[in-house]
Amino acid sequence: MTDHTPLLRVRGLCKRFEGVGVQALTDIGLDAEAGQTIALVGPSGCGKSTLLNLLGMLEAPTAGTLFFKGTDYRDIRPPHQFRASSLGFVFQFHHLVPTMTLAENVASPLVATSCAAQARRTRAMLALEQVGLSHRARFLPANVSGGERQRAAIARAIVNRPAIILADEPTGNLDSANGKLVFDLLVAQARQHQALVIVATHNMAMAAATDRQLHLLDGRLSDAPPYATLAAW
Ligand SMILES: Nc1ncnc2c1ncn2[C@@H]1O[C@H](COP(=O)(O)OP(=O)(O)O)[C@@H](O)[C@H]1O
Ligand SMILES: [Mg+2]
Repeated sequence: MTDHTPLLRVRGLCKRFEGVGVQALTDIGLDAEAGQTIALVGPSGCGKSTLLNLLGMLEAPTAGTLFFKGTDYRDIRPPHQFRASSLGFVFQFHHLVPTMTLAENVASPLVATSCAAQARRTRAMLALEQVGLSHRARFLPANVSGGERQRAAIARAIVNRPAIILADEPTGNLDSANGKLVFDLLVAQARQHQALVIVATHNMAMAAATDRQLHLLDGRLSDAPPYATLAAW
């Protein structure tokens, strides 16, 4: 018996999409620690996005429990503030707001926190600097490259120094050089700020560079690649 409380603990997690009769996740269990990088791998439709959405409180599970530092997600109040202050999201498509500059986009998660306007601008500029985009701060997303948009999305995800960063195929839309840049930025967050970084990826080279690879197949998790998963690639 140990009294160690992991940063993130998942027990018996299930997700069923009732309308379409799809069991997307079955009995997922996981302990993950601050500073860890974890790759979530598996074929299309295996449940990677669904799991990230549950971990990120974007959707509720059908069954099972998630704990952040020992506290049941359902007891975290208010959830939107927790999401804004402790979680960072990066998606395959950057999801930047097209009418806002990169700096405004990056500052947007801070609006839900108690951070004052001037401090929001300062922190957004710092985050943009970390991803090498200071010179693009006043640009609109449409006026920068795809790689720069995704780096801005990373800056937005890290602007709060979140405890957990969830990235859903963040390099899936980028060429290999930009993909590596984005991936390295995520890993740096784990190393420098002790963030837990969980990244869904099809890129096996990137997956191999993480501390731990979790394989999903038909909504079930395992530490070793199931044979069928390998065959599917
Ligand atoms: N909002 C939804 N409504 C209904 N079915 C969904 C929804 N989201 C995902 N699914 C289904 O759940 C399964 C897992 O999907 P997903 O998590 O997107 O997989 P992956 O990200 O690994 O490609 C798939 O069968 C998918 O069709
Ligand atoms: Mg997906």
